[in-house]
Amino acid sequence: ALQNSSSPRSVKSTGRTQYHLNPQASYKVAILGAAGGIGQPLALLVKINLYDIANVKGVAADLSHCNTPAQVSDFTGPSELADCLKGVNVVVIPAGVPRKPGMTRDDLFNINASIVKTLVEAVADNCPEAFIHVISNPVNSTVPIAAEVLKQKGVYDPKKLFGVTTLDVVRANTFVAQKKNLRLIDVDVPVIGGHAGITILPLLSKTKPSVCFTDEEIHELTVRIQNAGTEVVEAKAGAGSATLSMAYAAARFVESSLRALDGDGDVYECAYVQSDVADLPFFASRIKLGKKGVEALISSDLQGLTEYEQKAVEALKAELKSSIEKGVGFAQKQS
Ligand code: NAD
Ligand code: LMR
Repeated sequence: ALQNSSSPRSVKSTGRTQYHLNPQASYKVAILGAAGGIGQPLALLVKINLYDIANVKGVAADLSHCNTPAQVSDFTGPSELADCLKGVNVVVIPAGVPRKPGMTRDDLFNINASIVKTLVEAVADNCPEAFIHVISNPVNSTVPIAAEVLKQKGVYDPKKLFGVTTLDVVRANTFVAQKKNLRLIDVDVPVIGGHAGITILPLLSKTKPSVCFTDEEIHELTVRIQNAGTEVVEAKAGAGSATLSMAYAAARFVESSLRALDGDGDVYECAYVQSDVADLPFFASRIKLGKKGVEALISSDLQGLTEYEQKAVEALKAELKSSIEKGVGFAQKQS
């Protein structure tokens, strides 16, 4: 169990009013894929139940020496997955293969779709009430797969299934603050749509604090945010994709989820969820998080868009629709 006294470091890093989780409260978080590039640094930030198909014992032994209150437990292989998940409040899924240069996220579909399906089946059987954070790519398809699996198991709660797009927001905030010389902690850019290429759409006109951009700046920032994952994949030159920044972003989303579960009434994040804000069954937008998951979709962000943003929303719909259909089709065919 994670006796989570929310650390001031991570509270500060999200730029929000300081909120400390109830010190009596105890939450359990599980990371599935915990021995991987994302899983390991995420486990350092959120020490908890760690599951992988291999190598997780060493990660857990290493982490267990940190003098922080959270307990760490390790589980290896399918026979221990159920035990890992029992009583868990938040399940984070970064299990799966990452991209190499020249690949799209969709090129990962054939391997990662089955991994996500199997893991979500276990979640449905062992902790159907948990918040599920899907990190494994292609998120635009793996989240619809997860939804279908949960439906087949009769436990789908659309308010508790999230595709993690926090890294897009983290990147947008970083790049905008750098470009406009703003204090990082003040900047918040909503990023909507999905999590691949042009489906990643930063709404720069909705940046807080309000900022003026030239048309060139808008185009340059939008393209950089859309290609930031590829920027890392190319820089790592075959050794994987973003892991450290992803772990940082995932830890922020876990912390926000725990704050919401704990009753904080002021928790907003962007995430890719079942939605009706854009005539697509799944769409990333800002959401308000509460004890029961998504409490509200912030559809007002989609009003009053600039012409550039409106065109970009229209342009992303076809790709997002087909990625969603691909995920749904896969899960239905397998059932
Ligand atoms: P990695 O290869 O370093 O780690 C993946 C881990 O998953 C490995 O330890 C592996 O053993 C484990 N694994 C594989 N099959 C498993 C199974 N059936 N059950 C449990 N664990 C299993 O990869 P990584 O760099 O950590 O990336 C993981 C995934 O996250 C990739 O699909 C990547 O594209 C995605 N990703 C998403 C975002 C995002 O913003 N959503 C950002 C970065 C990476
Ligand atoms: C990212 O945005 O960094 C991840 O989706 C990993 C990738 O393949 O780019």
